[in-house]
Amino acid sequence: MNRKFVSRRRFLQSAGVAAVAVPTSVKGYTAAEMSAFGPDRVTALDISTDVMEQNISKWELDTPALCVDLDALEANLAKLQLTATRNGIASRPHAKTHKTPAIARMQLDSGSVGICTAKVSEAIAMYEHGIDRILMTTVNATPYKITRAMNLRKWCPEFIQATDTPGNARDLSEAAQAAGLVADVVIDIDSGGHRTGITPGQPALALAQLIDQLPGLQLRGMLCYDGGSQHVQGFETRRTRTLERCAPATETYDLMQQSGLSTEIFSGGGTGTYNIDHETRGLTDIQVGSYVFMDAQYLAIGGATDAEVYSDFETSLTILTTVLNAQYEGLVTTDAGAKACTINQPWPIVKGETGMTYRSGSDEFGTLRYDDPSRTYRLGDKLEVIVSHCDPVVNLYDQMYAIRNDRVEAVWKIAARGMSA
Ligand SMILES: Cc1ncc(COP(=O)(O)O)c(C=O)c1O
Repeated sequence: MNRKFVSRRRFLQSAGVAAVAVPTSVKGYTAAEMSAFGPDRVTALDISTDVMEQNISKWELDTPALCVDLDALEANLAKLQLTATRNGIASRPHAKTHKTPAIARMQLDSGSVGICTAKVSEAIAMYEHGIDRILMTTVNATPYKITRAMNLRKWCPEFIQATDTPGNARDLSEAAQAAGLVADVVIDIDSGGHRTGITPGQPALALAQLIDQLPGLQLRGMLCYDGGSQHVQGFETRRTRTLERCAPATETYDLMQQSGLSTEIFSGGGTGTYNIDHETRGLTDIQVGSYVFMDAQYLAIGGATDAEVYSDFETSLTILTTVLNAQYEGLVTTDAGAKACTINQPWPIVKGETGMTYRSGSDEFGTLRYDDPSRTYRLGDKLEVIVSHCDPVVNLYDQMYAIRNDRVEAVWKIAARGMSA
């Protein structure tokens, strides 16, 4: 039997979810109506009682709607923090995944030392919503971005940014001096993928030494994100690969320590290696992102205890979609296509179902095919799909519905949605 199919079925069984086609909704609350119940609320504790009183079922939401299951989300936060603590490492989750201050707040409240952002605009959005321990993992390469970063640093003393070339470090130092401050930086070390980061060893050491001398900068340490290993199939293969690829960063860490340079921060790792990264000597914290939601891409990689399905974390993020056409046997058209789900693959998975495939290749339409001829769907029925790749999906929505026991408990603003600059 096809491995992917086995994995999918195993996941669905382990999730223990009932069939999800539900009767046509009566109300169909729109995003605008739901916004009235508090999209600006930014903390987990700030759950709106008026939403609770309304007692709205998620099945009453207008679609496509992005939903996060609170029990699953909370379980993921707890599992990550427990594992990190047991392994003697901190967590600094990456907010590029959720872009949602309410979730960042939950991460900090559950013990994370800070959050990461990929973009300066994301960092600003997080800061504006009360999140003030931010490590920006991408280099600010243009004068505009550098100015924004320095403005943020003025207000946010715990804003730290990455740099990976001497020229960029000099630019940052000059801009910091012009802004009348000393800016905190970490050096980004290439893990071998040559996407970002300076070559480990002497080039990285020389950069660290330069930063140490520059009047506008304070060196806080380093980061090395091994993105190429995160989705490697099979736990042992993934473990071997990431430890090999991060070893040069540890050598750089040693060189920096021997030279008396700061290694206070050595950040790296991700969801695929969260229970491996502590074996990279020197690493202080893991930059896990997708673990909060999980997605079809991560489910497929297999874990330490389950070779077929990466079931370490629960799939908390789903898209609700409505049936637009059910006139043809074995085929249903829905309202969640590429603009609601992206065209990432593997395709979304219909939650709680087997023998079904979902495609979101058309702009506005999803296509569901199913084998069981006894199945019936009607116009207006709703379905729930597990997302293909969580980060780009979140970026398509203004708000996320926080659901518990199928009821809308809060409406969270995805404040850094669209913040790609
Ligand atoms: C620099 C950096 N750190 C951490 C992460 C988080 O990765 P994951 O979602 O696999 O946990 C990413 C994701 O792309 C990343 O780019």
